[in-house]
Amino acid sequence: MPDIDPMIPPGLVDFLDLGFARRIVDVGCGSGSFTSYLLGQAPPTAVAIGLDINRAVLKEGRSSKDVRLMLAAAEQIPILSDWSDMVICRRLLMNLPKPSAALGEMVRIAKRGGLVAAIEPDFLAERGHSTVPGELEFLQKLLLLTSKGSDLGFGPKCVALFKEVGLSEIEALVHSPVTVSGGDSFPTAHCERSARRLVELVTKWPIELEPRLGKADLDALMKEARDLDRVRDQQVRDAEYASASSFPLWMVRGRKVGGMNAGR
Ligand SMILES: C[S@@+](CC[C@H](N)C(=O)[O-])C[C@H]1O[C@@H](n2cnc3c(N)ncnc32)[C@H](O)[C@@H]1O
Repeated sequence: MPDIDPMIPPGLVDFLDLGFARRIVDVGCGSGSFTSYLLGQAPPTAVAIGLDINRAVLKEGRSSKDVRLMLAAAEQIPILSDWSDMVICRRLLMNLPKPSAALGEMVRIAKRGGLVAAIEPDFLAERGHSTVPGELEFLQKLLLLTSKGSDLGFGPKCVALFKEVGLSEIEALVHSPVTVSGGDSFPTAHCERSARRLVELVTKWPIELEPRLGKADLDALMKEARDLDRVRDQQVRDAEYASASSFPLWMVRGRKVGGMNAGR
């Protein structure tokens, strides 16, 4: 199965008018791999800026001739007003204490008539099935325990936020990427990943988990993870294991009022 980024919704290129974008800004870009993808879909003369507040993740990426990565906060973007014809963020707003402040900045740097867009998941609406009873419920519990200040159900709230900051022509597309692991039981898959070992997940997130859980709770969580892993490992050996899950991924765009449609 091809290795597809489940967070790149089909139809994204047309939805964002990327074929017309000349100046792209990706806010909260992480290592910038999505920024590079966006630029790859734009005309050859386009340029892209990715910005992120975390120096360490920026270091994982690399600026290139056409993608410039910069250290900056979404709430105070060091870019001139009316500069970009496509400003986007992916999985950023859900993590911010005041998402309207960041979106307001994104609108400010967009050209009049330019597009502002967000891609945000609704993990609270995740649904799935696993041959290991309780496995997906356990993953959901871990996600809630480690989400700190993030709003896991942010996706559906984007439209109201776009209205609040004065964007016009707001449109939303909802895509539900499916993740599968093990077996061929779920032929509709868009993305496949190897079976997740729950013990490793619990071990990986002690810093997030420890302040919320006492030692007894943490031990109970680890025991549950071990028990589930044991059942799953046996199923994998018997070639019986399969799981699939899906969550709605919201892609929302709006236009900054005033001016002609940017880039066209
Ligand atoms: C879940 S990651 C998403 C990264 C990237 N957009 C993607 O989809 O692959 C969220 C990113 O937002 C960044 N971030 C969080 N708060 C921020 C802020 N106030 N200003 C800029 N970036 C921020 C984090 O450092 C992190 O790299």
